[in-house]
This record gives sequence, structure tokens and C-alpha cells, in this order.
Amino acid sequence: MTFDAIDVIRTKRDGGRLSAEQIRWVIDAYTRGVVPDEQVSALLMAVFFRGMAPEELAVWTQAMIDSGERKDLSPLGRPTADKHSTGGVGDKTTLPLAPLVAACGVAVPQLSGRGLGHTGGTLDKLESIPGWRADVHEEAYLAQLREVGAVICAAGNDLAPADKKLYALRDVTGTVESIPLIASSIMSKKIAEGADALVLDVKTGSGAFMKDPEASRELARTMVGLGEAAGVHTVALVTAMDRPLGRAAGNAVEVAESVEVLAGGGPADVVELTLALAREMLAGVGRGDVDPAEALRDGRAMDVWRRMISAQGGDPDAPLPHPAEKHVVVAPATGTLTRLDAYAFGVAAWRLGAGRARKEDPVSAAAGVTWTAGVGEQVVAGQPLLELHTDDPDRIPRALEALEGAVGVDTGEQPLPLLLDRITA
Ligand code: URA
Repeated sequence: MTFDAIDVIRTKRDGGRLSAEQIRWVIDAYTRGVVPDEQVSALLMAVFFRGMAPEELAVWTQAMIDSGERKDLSPLGRPTADKHSTGGVGDKTTLPLAPLVAACGVAVPQLSGRGLGHTGGTLDKLESIPGWRADVHEEAYLAQLREVGAVICAAGNDLAPADKKLYALRDVTGTVESIPLIASSIMSKKIAEGADALVLDVKTGSGAFMKDPEASRELARTMVGLGEAAGVHTVALVTAMDRPLGRAAGNAVEVAESVEVLAGGGPADVVELTLALAREMLAGVGRGDVDPAEALRDGRAMDVWRRMISAQGGDPDAPLPHPAEKHVVVAPATGTLTRLDAYAFGVAAWRLGAGRARKEDPVSAAAGVTWTAGVGEQVVAGQPLLELHTDDPDRIPRALEALEGAVGVDTGEQPLPLLLDRITA
């Protein structure tokens, strides 16, 4: 059936409901290039202001999935579970989590992205491991899932291609920050990945996409609804991103911290969040009786990590890249650390070279920020607190500028609890 794009735009502009046929038509026609950017820009802006009813959003998301291929992982013959984070600073949990859950008998197909702006990208982090490749072809992907149990790799072009076009258009039309558009963008890709269960880590706070806990809860509820409507067992945890996670933000520095977690150590918050997400992934496929902490303690998760890295050409024993330059920042006062502003840390790591401004830009593997104490811990004036890592010393002043006012001692601020909420259908 063919519709007139102007009717679709007018219906949404005036607060009406789009029919399932209209939605399917416009997403398909846009993906094929039949409806032009300017008309879809207008429609996206109408959705931005008018929102979408749950029924419209479910059809919209399904149409995005149908623009490509929904993977069938049933030939693996074992349960599959995946995790998605809405993005944060120092959020490296995917790295220890995928091998950990695989070590518990559940296959983890993780199609990941690269960093853009102040949040890091999983693939950029892993590419700091010498030899490691993000591109894994279809057959190798299934073979690795079968033999190793976990794959973290780049998504191919057949995964929700409508989202590629829509996201690029949203980026240049001021229509990114819309809950239905974010939820459908994320969930179309995650549902198309084909996992049986999905756990969403919805971040909240200065370093997150959604700064406000209530907006984060609403995004979480919307995404859980879409996952369940598509037959994927979906749970969301709303978690703190007012401060960065762990003690490192960047590329190689985050890999090093992930390996510490896999070795049974690492910062307490990274361990707690990784285990909480692992428990949800296992429970989502009926394995709630398995304790993932055991697989961290006895080295099984580390074994899977080593095999997962080797399977993609990486050398798990190779030294990680070192920065050409380090710069230390000391604690400004004695007392309890009450503020480490996540957004500022993300911008600093980005300016040091860890992130990119445009999709095509390269990143520096060695760039990033590490810190020696987290919120709630005691510091003494003058003690080394932050270490800035970069290959280019000229980048340091701009990173320091981003960090102005980012560290606070005894400011009276109350950091958010690490786990704020758990959202189910
Ligand atoms: N990540 C996505 O994949 N899509 C969005 O819209 C926002 C974040």
C-alpha cells in the first residue's frame, strides 16, 4: 500500500495516531530512499513533540527491525542473553560481563558500537589489544558463539538499516533526545540480534544521555515494553552515572581495569554492577540459580576472556599501549570525596584523544584518565588523585579545562546509589 508522506506528517503534527500500515510504509519507503530526508525530518520533529502511543511505537520498532534481518540463534542449541548500556563514562562492564556470562553456560552475542562524543565505545577499547579485530563475519560469528560462548564485535549493515538512516538524520535535525525515538533505535538493533533475553543498563546523571532519574526510568520502561512485545525477556537496571564507573576512563586503561575484574580484583563498583547485570542475564534465561561470582573467583571467566580475545586475533598477553605523556592532578582538599563529575571526566578523556568528534576520526588507544579514589572515599590535600594519559601533550590544557570544578571534597552533595531501580514488564 502507498501513502502520501504529507498525510503521515500532518497526522502526527496534529497529535493523531499513525496507522500500522502508515508506519510500515514510511519506514520502508525511507530506508529504500523513496521518501526524502526533508519529509522524514518533519515527521521526526512531529514525533519529538507529539510522542507515540505504545501501539504505534511497537509497530515503528518492528518496521525498523524488518528493514534488515532478525538473526536466528536457535542453531546454537543453548540459551543466549545480551546486555545494552545507554552509555556512560568509564563504563567497561561489557568487557568482563560477556565472558563471565558465557562461563556460566549462556552464549553472549554482543554487537557493539564505537564511541561518539564524551562516552567511550566498546570496540575502541578492545582495539587497544594488539591484533584484536572488531569485524567478524557471519560464519565465524556463529562458530565463536558455539566454541567460545561470547563474541563482542561490530554490527553488520544488515542489522536494522532503517536505524542507520534515521539516527544520522536525527543527529542533524535536533531530534535525538526523544524517548520513543531513542527506545526504538536501541531496541530495533538489540531485538534484531536475536538473543533470548536482554538486560538494559539505563544510565542516569551528568555523564548519561538522560541526566534525570525519572526520564531514565521512563526510557527504561519504554524499552522493556518494546522488548517484551517482541518476545524477548527484557529487564532494565537504572544505574548511577553522576560519577564515572571504576577508576579509569579511556581505551587501554579500561581494558586493564576489566582484566583486573576478571582476575578477581578491580574496583568494587565495577564488580558490583557486572555481577548485578550477569545475574539478570542468567535469570532472564532461567539460570537464576547460577552464581556468577563463582566464575570470577575460580578463573573460568578469565579463561573465556582469553579465548574470546584470541579468537578475534588479539593477544591477551601482549602489553597494552602506554601513553607518551602523563600528567598528575592532586586532591584539592582533605576530606570525603563527594564529587567526581562524570560528564567532565568523559570530556577530559575525549580531549586527551580517547574519543572522536566525527565517526571517521581515529582514537588513541593509550589516551584516558585514571583516578585513585572514588566518591565516598577519604583524600588528603596534595595527594595524587587523577592521572591524565595522552600521546599528545598539547591536549593536556584543554583536558584540564574540562576538569575544572569536576572534583569536590565535602561539598554536601549526595552521590546517587549505584543501582537506583529495576524495571520489569
Ligand atoms: N543509542 C542508539 O543506538 N540510539 C539512540 O537513539 C540513542 C543512543
